[in-house]
Amino acid sequence: YMGAEALPRKNSHGIELTDPLAVEPMLEELQKQQGKHFLGGPIVDGVMGKAEEPVYNPATGAVIGHTANTDKHLIERAYASATEAQIDWDRQGGNSRAVILDRIADFYEKKINELTAIICLEAGRTLNDGISEVREAVDFCRYYANAARQHFSEATELPGPTGEKNQLFLGGRGVFVAISPWNFPLAIFTGQVVAALAAGNAVLAKPAEQTPIIAAHAVRIMLDAGVPPKVLHLITGTGAAVGKLLIEDPRLGGVAFTGSTETARLINQQLAAKEGPIVPLIAETGGQNVMIVDSTALPEQVVDDVIQSAFLSAGQRCSALRILCVQDVIADNLLNMLQGACEELNLGDPSKLETDIGPVIDEKALDLLEAHRERMASEAKPLFAFDEDKMPNIGTFFGPQVVEIEDFSLLKREVFGPFLHVVRFKAEELEDVIRRINATGYGLTFGLHSRIEGRADAIFKRVNVGNYYVNRDMVGAVVGVNPFGGQGLSGTGFKAGGPHYLFRFATEKTKTINT
Ligand code: NAD
Ligand code: ALA
Repeated sequence: YMGAEALPRKNSHGIELTDPLAVEPMLEELQKQQGKHFLGGPIVDGVMGKAEEPVYNPATGAVIGHTANTDKHLIERAYASATEAQIDWDRQGGNSRAVILDRIADFYEKKINELTAIICLEAGRTLNDGISEVREAVDFCRYYANAARQHFSEATELPGPTGEKNQLFLGGRGVFVAISPWNFPLAIFTGQVVAALAAGNAVLAKPAEQTPIIAAHAVRIMLDAGVPPKVLHLITGTGAAVGKLLIEDPRLGGVAFTGSTETARLINQQLAAKEGPIVPLIAETGGQNVMIVDSTALPEQVVDDVIQSAFLSAGQRCSALRILCVQDVIADNLLNMLQGACEELNLGDPSKLETDIGPVIDEKALDLLEAHRERMASEAKPLFAFDEDKMPNIGTFFGPQVVEIEDFSLLKREVFGPFLHVVRFKAEELEDVIRRINATGYGLTFGLHSRIEGRADAIFKRVNVGNYYVNRDMVGAVVGVNPFGGQGLSGTGFKAGGPHYLFRFATEKTKTINT
């Protein structure tokens, strides 16, 4: 691309959880937030609407606030405002929008303790996860601000071999609907919204029904930072209640969706059936993520990375490891060590610093995991099952499980939780393992542990995935450093937090003047 050079950029700082002085304000803030009743209703034209549906803390089952299924009149109002206001927002140009996006990042950083506490209370994420999420959200704002300056401020000058003056302009597409999941209720919500805003769009943002409260906080911060209230609206509610109204509106300019492959397909079908302009869908979806460990791997490091990859965030990451393929000659030793490490995992209250694994998001998620455990009881060999006596007696908790299976074909769908499947392979079967990975149709993250020279490059060329990690864990992609997103059943690209992401939110116009 011919735009200006990207400005130097740094990723945001975290909080050192081993430093009592750094941790104290965060724990105080958590206590303060714990007693509150929150509102996570729709925000249209800067005004919060009525909120009557309960929102639960998954770790306790307690009602922590209320939300609403936004009614159709309010959605109509949001579309009307956004359609009108988008024109000026777009004309304002990338430089001016970038100032606002940078300010959002500053405000998030100032409020890191409060935002972390709300993420923990509403989504059951551990404090460590919550902090990472605020940092990722900050990074998205600054990264896309930079991209807005670089690509959306001035025209790109093109060659004029016949003496004509040629220029290329990027602008917004209109009103973007941004639909996000509960598992990164701040980072993904923010990433989608600020990308669409940076490119000059107005936004109707629809958070997951489980996590409207942190979304409402985010929108308040964005409005305080200078996003005009007619440009950004929060549309809360379930997919069933508000999804169709958002997608079928003729003023829709584009959809940014992150969630399950099934929902992405449904939205794609609805878009395809629409009259009028063809509306683009950016979809980031699920994964069936595999790690291959060969006989040259370092077992201690593998165990550490497997624990992180499979069980961090209670396995509720699209990037999480689902199938561990271990070469047969090291399998017994490695699996022994892995069982030992699993025994050490601390499951419980996500607001406690010592907790490794918090709850799963709700009863529905728990039911799906329990059904899978039941199925695996007859079709797989158990390797580790979390001690039921150590399970909390409130909240939606699911203890981590490790089972050995014969073949990938046992897993038809993504199992979204702390459930790891192990497959043994012989050295001569490596090619076949790669074929089977590609045959899943998913293509999100992949891990390899190997010290064989040339193997990482050789497999990289063959395996159809978005994020490829060698001799490390396979979660926690960093904005601008590990742009994130997959292919096939895992999504359309371009990658979030990468140099091409904003272009999917934009429209291009060329101007040719015969001088
Ligand atoms: P989901 O598909 O159930 O819901 C995602 C969002 O879509 C929610 O806001 C939901 O209300 C909305 N929705 C549901 N039905 C809709 C409809 N008919 N029309 C419009 N919107 C609708 O997913 P989830 O359970 O919230 O999230 C978990 C999934 O997200 C997992 O599959 C995970 O792998 C995936 N995910 C992917 C990425 C990625 O970057 N690839 C990141 C995080 C999560
Ligand atoms: N971007 C998130 C990760 O890499 C999903 O874990």
